[in-house]
Amino acid sequence: MIKKEIDNELEYIQKVKQINEGKNLHYHILTMGCQLNENDSEKICGMAEEMGYTKTQEIMDADLVIYNTCCVRENAEERLFGKLGEVKKLKEAKGTIIAIGGCMMQEKHIVEKIKKSYSYDVIFGTHTLQNFPKDLYHAILERKKITDILDIDGEIIEGLPIKREDSIRASVTIMNGCNNFCTYCIVPYVRGRERSRNPEDILNEVKSLAQEGYKEITLLGQNVNSYMRVEREKENTLDKGAINRIDSFAKLLRAVNEINGIEKIRFTSPHPKDFTDDVIEAIRDCEKVSKFIHLPMQSGSTNVLKAMNRVYTKEQYLELVEKMKKEIPDVTFSTDIIVGFPGETEEDFEDTLDVVRKVKFEQIFMFIYSRRVGTPADKMENQIPEEIKHKRFDRLKSLYEEILKKNNEQYIGKTENLLIEGYSKTNKDLLTARTDTNKVVVLEGESSLIGKVVPVKIVSEHMWYLKGEVEIN
Ligand code: SAH
Ligand code: SF4
Ligand code: F3S
Repeated sequence: MIKKEIDNELEYIQKVKQINEGKNLHYHILTMGCQLNENDSEKICGMAEEMGYTKTQEIMDADLVIYNTCCVRENAEERLFGKLGEVKKLKEAKGTIIAIGGCMMQEKHIVEKIKKSYSYDVIFGTHTLQNFPKDLYHAILERKKITDILDIDGEIIEGLPIKREDSIRASVTIMNGCNNFCTYCIVPYVRGRERSRNPEDILNEVKSLAQEGYKEITLLGQNVNSYMRVEREKENTLDKGAINRIDSFAKLLRAVNEINGIEKIRFTSPHPKDFTDDVIEAIRDCEKVSKFIHLPMQSGSTNVLKAMNRVYTKEQYLELVEKMKKEIPDVTFSTDIIVGFPGETEEDFEDTLDVVRKVKFEQIFMFIYSRRVGTPADKMENQIPEEIKHKRFDRLKSLYEEILKKNNEQYIGKTENLLIEGYSKTNKDLLTARTDTNKVVVLEGESSLIGKVVPVKIVSEHMWYLKGEVEIN
């Protein structure tokens, strides 16, 4: 989107700010989705703060409540409707403004349901994030309900204010949308077609984050390793200047790796089908790129993968893992797995367990298949009964816990330099950190260690966390 258009939208930030002048207003935001959704929330927070609202964790204190929604699985919907039921009372009592944004608002039947049965002031979608100040302005001034959804893909928006959650780790969205159309997935319908941000904009953002003191960057997208693919394919329609160099994910990784001040680079999510050799080589060569790779498998059965439109087989997935293990010393993996996809037989499920045993993932995000209106899999006739889905989920979970224990044991006695993040949520006397592989480590120590990188020796494992001790040289 051209800068002028954004500036026109952002003028409303000042207009709302004027209305809010001297009122000491607060906003409360609930982010319900993935890391991309969280990154959008950081932009919503940026806009809200510039409009004169201060963040509050207490919904009771809020003058503006914002829900940034997700619709990837059914439970996300139930959660939103529960929340909207609760906030209605608050609105009746003190006139709280309710704004609902995010992926679920791109689903027509959901917006209809909200309009019919729930209280709200503003509904905005994934392609109209930048309109939030304008929509809010009209909702406040004209006291009318605003629905601002675009069905066509919005352009990439640059230059929105942003208020980040963390001061050491930052997420940087490198692309929007998805073209893969996995048959179970709603994302391509609610996020639109794949489109990549200009490399210059990404690198400038990372450079300024480095200047602000950020140490860790996570590059985000629904299919990061196809970064710039669409643009590459229509290269001749672009001006050559814009495409002369960084036109692939591998090149982007190498460029980000060059930025001084950044110490660690992560990315999520890549697609196995796009894990070309240049990406593997870039991960191997770039010392800042984490060797803990998220490699979404979804299923270990070739038949199910085919029905899911994942375009790789069980064998190809395993070959990719082997190739990466060979090329990248100490590489480890996390993954996403769906159980109970339509038509999944006992044998198919066994294939999934087989791959889990072979790859020994450090982390598995397990999901029970959830029917999504509008996706091809929802129309498949061979849906799996809930009971079988749950039983398979429990079997996968047991296997995961077995593997987790064995993986954890390999950490005992080893020392890693860890960033001390803060106090443990469950025990305020203990500090927490995280291994490169995202395992929680708890340890004793002074508060002065928070924010520092220190050598920590792992002394014991407790399934969902490890215990460590600061190593004193
Ligand atoms: N683009 C990413 C993430 C997509 S959403 C990727 O391809 O990996 C995150 C995860 O949610 C997916 O990897 C998948 O495992 C899960 N998921 C998506 N749709 C689902 C559905 N209908 N039911 C259950 N899990 C689903
Ligand atoms: Fe959904 Fe597949 Fe795209 Fe991931 S790659 S967002 S699972 S369609
Ligand atoms: Fe959910 Fe949208 Fe992310 S559907 S998983 S918030 S892209």
